[in-house]
Amino acid sequence: MPRFSLTTPIYYVNAKPHLGHAYTTIVADAVARWHRMLGEDVHFLTGTDEHGLKIQQAADAAGVSPQQFADDIAPLFQQAWERLGITNDDFIRTTENRHKVGVQKLLQACHDAGDIELDVYRGLYCVPCEAYYTEEELVAESGASNLCPIHKKPVDAVEEENYFFRLSRFEDRLLKWYADHPTAITPQHRMNEVVGFIKQGLNDFSVSRKTLKWGVPLPFDESHVAYVWFDALSNYLTAIGYGTDDAKFKSWWPVDFHLIGKDIIRFHCVYWPAMLMSAGIEPPKGWAVGGWLLVGGEKMSKTSGNVVNPLDLIDDFGVDGFRYYVLAETPYGNDGDFTYEGLVARYNSDLANNLGNLLARVATVVGKKCDGIGPRPSESSPLAASAKEAVAAAQSAWSAVQPSKALDATWQLIRATNSHLENNEPWKAEPGPTVDAVMGDALEALRIVALLTFAAVPTTAQAIWERIGMSGDVSEQRLPDAAAWGGYPGGVQVTKGESLFPRKQA
Ligand code: ME8
Ligand code: MG
Repeated sequence: MPRFSLTTPIYYVNAKPHLGHAYTTIVADAVARWHRMLGEDVHFLTGTDEHGLKIQQAADAAGVSPQQFADDIAPLFQQAWERLGITNDDFIRTTENRHKVGVQKLLQACHDAGDIELDVYRGLYCVPCEAYYTEEELVAESGASNLCPIHKKPVDAVEEENYFFRLSRFEDRLLKWYADHPTAITPQHRMNEVVGFIKQGLNDFSVSRKTLKWGVPLPFDESHVAYVWFDALSNYLTAIGYGTDDAKFKSWWPVDFHLIGKDIIRFHCVYWPAMLMSAGIEPPKGWAVGGWLLVGGEKMSKTSGNVVNPLDLIDDFGVDGFRYYVLAETPYGNDGDFTYEGLVARYNSDLANNLGNLLARVATVVGKKCDGIGPRPSESSPLAASAKEAVAAAQSAWSAVQPSKALDATWQLIRATNSHLENNEPWKAEPGPTVDAVMGDALEALRIVALLTFAAVPTTAQAIWERIGMSGDVSEQRLPDAAAWGGYPGGVQVTKGESLFPRKQA
């Protein structure tokens, strides 16, 4: 069986899950579900990032130990993902022993290779980023200067004895690797950004902290703990058995896609492949870099205090209504503005008026004109070409981690089916072969729509499947074969049921 693996970032437990986290996680989930429908053996990993100064400080502020703090927040992520229908195959917490073992193995491997050395660090540190900045990278805003470019907060001047990873030695190797793998990062402009950054010259980065206790001790000097980013990136290996289950590790690495936000590109596309090269491990096969969800032009983040809780939105729009919005509204890779009005508009136009209405009118007409029994589709329906196009376009878009394009292609078929009904007006015609042909074709289109929408809106897809009289689980169907025109058997009971997407007031 072909294998496919993908990951989300592991989220810091200093914040409760918000819409920004849900965004990347839902995209990853939909891609994972699509690949399972292709018959691939999928490993989909997510988890939480629990070490480092940021978590230590958050725990101090809450008056609890960092372990207790992480133990309180990590389940909120697990519960949120469960409610959003996320089908991750594993959930890694960086405080687990399997993780610690693997981080130490990776540190040791880089140390053995001579790429980790003791030095003194003087620099400017942003705790929310858990990253060092150079003076040139700092920005000014509203009268204040020397601010972190992402959080717009003052940075701390730090001087410490640290172990360093000799990133500067990897410039040529990284550039060569990217030249040999020119499509590894999507979208393409992110690849250009990464290559440009490497060409400017790379600085060594600190991989340990002496003043902090909350982390994984270095195997070669227990008076230091690992820098949180070295620790965090290692999760992609430790979760699949690096250091604890070699056979499993070999069967899943290298990963097909790391899904990340554009905020953490440098860590993932520069530090991470260099760390792997140092340890003699292959770099990832791909990175899919997403943009940010903005609120009023600002990145939604705990630090900005403008977060939206995804669980509040599913109370109003249903899990599928919310998932659909997240997947369809913004092309993955671009920034998108989150507004409640935008969510209502998208829900009403695509789900209530297009998909929901199509299913309702088909079920109504079949009830009235075909005794509730779905007729067979015709062999040469004009809809067959639309369906074929939708399947091909959806397939290439999902493989490129472009859910909005995949859904757009799918909605073309939904719109074509609605138009086919409007052109033929079966609700006005006498029962008979002409009505049967039109309705059989519409049912077949809906069957294909159920297959194509499962990755994005799984509960809806299963409901469509059952209402048009298909048996079993949509998820058991195998694409693309199952989506070939003509699979609807006819002679099965069609059920009207409740409206899938009642219209919302703006
Ligand atoms: O950076 N819009 O964790 P984090 C879109 N622990 N995506 C967003 C977003 C927004 N407004 N806000 C967050 C970390 N995200 C590290 C990662 S990985 C080895 C370690 C998503 O909790 C996006 O995927 O700050 C971003 O990259 C990630 O959450 C950062 O989550
Ligand atoms: Mg962050």
